[in-house]
Amino acid sequence: MSKLHGLLALSLVVAACASSDPGPSPTTAGSAPSSTSPVNVRTVDPRPGAPGIGDPLYPNLGNGGYDVADYRLELEVEPATGMVRGIAAVEAVALHDLSSFNLDLVGMEVRSVDVAVAERRGAATWRRRGRELVVVPAEPIPAGVVFVVTVVYEGVPGPVPEGAVPFAPGWRKVGDTIYVFDQPDGAAGWFPANDHPRDRATMTLTVTVPEDVVVVSAGERSSRRVGDGRREYRWVIDDPIAPYLVPLGIGPFRERAEPPAGSIPVTTWFDPDIPEGRLEPFRRQGEMVEFFAERFGPYPFERIGALIVEDESLRAALETQEVSTYTSPSLAWGEAVVAHELAHQWFGDAVTVARWDDIWLNEGFATFGQWLWAEHDVGPEVYDRQVMRAYRTMSGLDRASSGVPPEDAARQAREAYPPPDHPRADELFSASVYQRGGLTLVALRDLVGDEGVFDVLEEWVRRFGGRSATTEDFVALVEERLGAEAAELVTAFVEDPQIPPMPQRGLAPPG
Ligand code: TRP
Ligand code: ZN
Repeated sequence: MSKLHGLLALSLVVAACASSDPGPSPTTAGSAPSSTSPVNVRTVDPRPGAPGIGDPLYPNLGNGGYDVADYRLELEVEPATGMVRGIAAVEAVALHDLSSFNLDLVGMEVRSVDVAVAERRGAATWRRRGRELVVVPAEPIPAGVVFVVTVVYEGVPGPVPEGAVPFAPGWRKVGDTIYVFDQPDGAAGWFPANDHPRDRATMTLTVTVPEDVVVVSAGERSSRRVGDGRREYRWVIDDPIAPYLVPLGIGPFRERAEPPAGSIPVTTWFDPDIPEGRLEPFRRQGEMVEFFAERFGPYPFERIGALIVEDESLRAALETQEVSTYTSPSLAWGEAVVAHELAHQWFGDAVTVARWDDIWLNEGFATFGQWLWAEHDVGPEVYDRQVMRAYRTMSGLDRASSGVPPEDAARQAREAYPPPDHPRADELFSASVYQRGGLTLVALRDLVGDEGVFDVLEEWVRRFGGRSATTEDFVALVEERLGAEAAELVTAFVEDPQIPPMPQRGLAPPG
């Protein structure tokens, strides 16, 4: 949720308090309990917060009944063993009278849980059920009131096997290097969260590690020695962030400053075993951001960066906010992957999906961005060729030209590449989501030209940046700015079983 919303909620509490002196902010978990400011707002109808936020694809992800404003996370990490000792203070506002509420947490051992409502801090009872940590405060929490739940926990985090992606997302340890790839549901493997892109919050991430490694994340960094050969890193993330987008790297990373994007600094952190020659594409991050900013509107965050981890077991990259995360094998994709992750900062990070099955709003848009960069940097023939290749695959034209009868080719393609909107739970990151999703914006651009398509994309981020949105929101915006024909084209591209033709390119499905 937004900071503004947090402040509003806070003033609600203040207004609701009988005491004329509201005292300090209730964000004081960890400090001594105080009794100066009792909450005398009655609960009328306390009931449990829902165990899921209401995502149709993953009913258990996230939680209902509250909205997180801020995470204060303190982790002590032992890279050699993977052991983590954590304190998480989660500040949230109750959305209805709460008799209990859930956080998402997978694995880890919970040592204690308490809940502070306004100034009153009390022990809470709690139980674990699957990925749910159910918290029952000593007294119900009234709607509109800010509370802070503090969870003390420890354990060795690991990936979360949920099956939404072919590999388990989450905390990864390769040798003594640790990083996270949390999309869509891995964040709950290392901190108690409302783990859904619909609930964003600010975060202060404090991580204590041995002096020979560094900690990389987003936001403003500071660090200090804490004795015992250890150093504490603090990253203050004040642009509200979805839990899965929090970057984290712990390892012997080196740091390289890159040419900035105007006044926005660009930093690359990389494993020292990666030869600097392979890091060339990261020099151009600032240039890419300037290119995108001309088309998508101002870059939505305060910093730009990359974290590159040596992990031969996985070729992947993730658009973690401000600082995208790449494994060493992903560098084989060259500038394309860097452009893709940077485009995600607008589409995925600034605007998050309200429901995971609208993921084409992230992946299709980032794929379009990656094609635009190739067009700009190499030439229009590269854009046209990539679009053509994607269309031939998605439509079955390629099968037809290798001898499959046209009707069969089209049918096989329909089965292999179903429409990108509302993919099945295990197909979240399918080829169709990326490519047919990307082709959707190419088709829109073919129809309305650069001015039309970039007007819509810029307005999309202006209107929904800092919030989450749905396909319906996008189609409505397209209709508003570009008319009914454009809106119908988008709907057909993302919903119809058969990919529509692209007449300006002379492309149509076989048969
Ligand atoms: N969103 C990633 C991309 O940039 C792909 C992805 C999805 C991913 N889930 C992941 C990457 C988990 C790493 C880990 O296309
Ligand atoms: Zn992507």
